[in-house]
Amino acid sequence: MDDIKRMAAEKAVEMVRDGMKVGLGTGSTAYFAIEGIGRLVKEGYRLLAVPTSLASERQARELGIPLATLEETGTLDITIDGADEVNGDLDLIKGLGGALLREKIVAYSTRMQVIVVDDSKLVRELGTKVPLPVEVVRFSHGRTSMYMEDLGCRTELRGGDNPFVTDNGNFIYHLHFERGIRDPYELQSRLKQIPGVVETGLFLKMAEKVVVASLDGVRVMEKG
Ligand code: 5RP
Repeated sequence: MDDIKRMAAEKAVEMVRDGMKVGLGTGSTAYFAIEGIGRLVKEGYRLLAVPTSLASERQARELGIPLATLEETGTLDITIDGADEVNGDLDLIKGLGGALLREKIVAYSTRMQVIVVDDSKLVRELGTKVPLPVEVVRFSHGRTSMYMEDLGCRTELRGGDNPFVTDNGNFIYHLHFERGIRDPYELQSRLKQIPGVVETGLFLKMAEKVVVASLDGVRVMEKG
C-alpha cells in the first residue's frame, strides 16, 4: 500500500516548480509528498511551505524545507494533501487524520489544491465508506453533538473516554450517516450553523486535481 501512496504523491510532486509557495498536507500519503518536496529543496528549488499540522511541520523541519505562515506567503501556488473519500465531482471527506481545520484554512488560500489518494478512496456518494469528522470546541461538546444528531446521523467522540485533541485544542466527532450524505452542500451549511462546530471535513469545490494511484498505475482526475 505504501508503494501505491508514494506513486500518487510523487506524481503530484512533479507539479511543483522552483520558486513556488507550497502547502504541506497531513497523513500517510501526504507524508510521501513532503518527502518529495524535501528532495526538491535539496536539489536547489527555492520553495516556501506552510504545514497543515504539527506532525507535517516536524517532518518538514527535519527535511530542511523552509517554512512560513499564510500571512507571510499570501496565496499558495499548490497544496498537496490526502483525503479519506473522493466523489466524481472531486468533493472530499478529509480529517480522519485529525488535521481538517488547518487543512481547510490552507486549502482555502491555495490556487491549486492537489489531492493524492489510492483508488480505495473513490466513492459514488460521500459518507458511505467513512464517517464525517467534525471539529468542535470542548465547551458543551455533548450538547453540540446532540444538535449534530438532529441532522440525521449518529455521532461518536473520537477517542471516547480519552478524547483525541486536535492541534488547535478542540475535539473531533465522527458523524455516521447510515445511507451516506445525500446533499453535502446542505449538510455543510447546516453544520456550520451549530454553535460549537468549528469546521467540518467536507471539502467542497476545493480540489483542482485528484491523483489516484492503484496497482494499474496513476491517473489524474481534473475539475470539470
Ligand atoms: C488528515 C487528512 C488526511 O489527508 C486523510 O485522513 C488521508 O490520510 P491518509 O493519506 O493517511 O489515508 O485529512 O486530517
